[in-house]
Parts: sequence; structure tokens; C-alpha cells
Amino acid sequence: MKRKQLVIGLFGFGNVGQGLCDVLRRVNPDNVRIARACVRNTKKHRDAPVPITDKADDIFNDPEINLIVELIDDADAAYVIVERALRQGIPVVSGNKKMLAYHIMDLIELQRLTGTALLYDASACGSIPVIRNLEEYYDNDLLISVKGILNGSSNFILSKIFNEGMDYSEALSIAQRLGFAESNPTLDVDGWDSLFKLVIITIHAFGVYVRPEEIFTFGIGRMTADDIRFANEKRRRIKLVGCAEKLGDDKLALTVMPQLISKQKYIYSVEDEFNGIVIKGMFYYKQFMFGRGAGGHPTGSSVLSDITAQTYDYRYEYKKLNSGHTPTYTTDFIFRIYYRYTTEGERHLLTFENINESYKSATYNYIVGDICLSELIRNADTLRRAEVFVAAYPAD
Ligand code: HSE
Repeated sequence: MKRKQLVIGLFGFGNVGQGLCDVLRRVNPDNVRIARACVRNTKKHRDAPVPITDKADDIFNDPEINLIVELIDDADAAYVIVERALRQGIPVVSGNKKMLAYHIMDLIELQRLTGTALLYDASACGSIPVIRNLEEYYDNDLLISVKGILNGSSNFILSKIFNEGMDYSEALSIAQRLGFAESNPTLDVDGWDSLFKLVIITIHAFGVYVRPEEIFTFGIGRMTADDIRFANEKRRRIKLVGCAEKLGDDKLALTVMPQLISKQKYIYSVEDEFNGIVIKGMFYYKQFMFGRGAGGHPTGSSVLSDITAQTYDYRYEYKKLNSGHTPTYTTDFIFRIYYRYTTEGERHLLTFENINESYKSATYNYIVGDICLSELIRNADTLRRAEVFVAAYPAD
């Protein structure tokens, strides 16, 4: 079979865009070439290995270009590019998780109306082919949960702190230097990047779309030495975990928050910028996907995989979303947390269903107890602003 020739118009020449160019240079496929890259500042990229422009029209008006690859940082600008490409009938590969998390439903509809594909495996978990697997292999009702480490930078920081005793800010600056972190690293450490990925994953795992602001999201930015000591004393590690979990047949709970992970869990040993996703289902119990979740080359290779999929006109079918029997998002879910607080006001911020353990001293106070997810969501903004730390603390 003759393979389709792809001529790419690339938007963005940052870490992932450069990673993609390098991967393509080394693989040198005879049916894929980048015609031009559109960047904000052409002076900055004078040495780029492909022709560059700062005008989107140079790409959209080039009749040779039959695939847009969008790898820019700005979610609003990314949406404009992706929407325009689909309306012009040009398939798109995108890596912009924030843009997808907010606009995915519109873009699914636009794909249907235009008959044009949008692929974005690179948007979630770097080199791990999670979306296409959830879409194709897990195309049934057996899935119970999809949980894991979805952000490489925060995991890198946690690894350096727990394994090497490194200081938080030093670990963060190394993650930035190595090109794992977002240009605004609070997206990584405060859980937003994991949240966007979880929203995308949940569409393909369970056929359910939940707007990002409806999901409880708490990061590792407020973690202190006391929290690390607590985890060590309990022989656990703190990991930032995105979790989509079915409760019974027809309800689905979603969270992004630190978790105290015990040694027997697969993700306990996921270190550095690696991501790890545990897929739990009926009859097969658990499966584990593991790989590099950040960085120019791993993510560039995932973009290449989406590009290659375009050579045979692959597109997501959203079979679960369209199945008519999807679970309903619920926040009525009780689970155990560790809550470290400073003031009495913060102590009474949360109403627990049940308190298992509490500790108070002049400098360190905590509660371990069961709480309803809706209670955390109700207080989410206040918790994120306060000097507190919240982590899920599962029994095993
Ligand atoms: N900043 C992201 C991370 C990049 O650290 O995982 C990959 O999405």
C-alpha cells in the first residue's frame, strides 16, 4: 500500500517542537516533511532546521501543507489554530493539554462536522501511548479506574526530595533546566497540568467529560518537611496522582491531589520525570503503563506517532462518549486524607465524617480522617490559598 505523503505546517518551536524536528531528522521518514514552522519570534529561531515564519497565513495558505502540528504554549492561540485547521479540512496533531481540556467537546463536534481528524496522544503522559490504548484496546465497559502520575516535573521534584533530600526549589530549577517543566511551573506543581491530562484521559477511558474547574485539584507546592517526615514515618512516599475511578456501575469520581503511596503500589517506584498509569478493570485486575512523561524527545516521539497515524487516516471515534451508557460524575465519595494545617481557623475549615488520628504541637498539626470529596471541592479555593497540605491516604 502506498503511504500518504505528509507535508507539515508546524506551530511552535519550543522544547517539544525542537524535539520533534530532531526525532524526524534522525528517523528520516521518506513520507513526512516539515514545510515550515510558525513561531512568535523569528529572530530567536534563525538557526532552525526548517523554514520559519511568524505569520499563520503562510502555513494556512500553503496548498502543499496537509497536516498541522500545533505545539505552542498558549492555550487560547492553540485553540484558534486548531479550530481554523479543522474548518479548512486540514487534520491536526496537538500537544496542548490545557486547550484540549477546555475545548475538547467543541473540537469533537467540529471533527464530526468537518470529517477532519484531531489527534493528541502527545498531550497526556509524554511518550506513553495512553489515549490510543484507552480508545482502542479498552473499548469496553470493563474499566474500573485509571490512576497515576501524569506530570513529570512534579514527580521529578518529589523524587529528588525523597531520594536525595534535595531542596524543593533546587529540584524545581533542575526540572526547568532539563525542559520538563511548563513555562509557568505552577501548572506542574499545583496539579493543573495533571488535571488537564486527567480530563482528556477520562473522555477516552470512560466517555465522560468533566470541566476542569469541577474537579478537586491540589498540588505539592505547599508540602513541607513535616509532611515529608510524616510520609517517611508511615513508610510511604508522596506522589501527585490523577485519579478517575468508577464507584459501582454508574458513578465516576475524579481527583488530582498528592497521595501517600505505600511500597506495594506500582507508582511508588516511578521516579524522576517518568509517568506511570495503573489501569484497573474487571477480570484482568491491574495493568501498568510506564514511560517518560516529559522532555522534548519523548514527547516529540509521541507527536511523531500521531503524525504517522495520520498517514493511514487514523482518527479517534469517541466510541464510549457516544455509547449512551456512560457513568455520571459524582463528588459524593468518602475517602481518607492527611490534612496538615497551621491555625485553628484552618482546622475547622473542613468537616470530617470521621477522625482516625490527630496531632497538635506548637509547630505542626495534622488530622487523618475520612472526608467527602464534595467537602474538599467546596473549600478548594481556600485550601489552595492557606498554609495547609492535603493528601489522600488510602488504607493500603
Ligand atoms: N510539564 C509537563 C510535565 C510536560 O512535567 O509532565 C509534559 O506534559
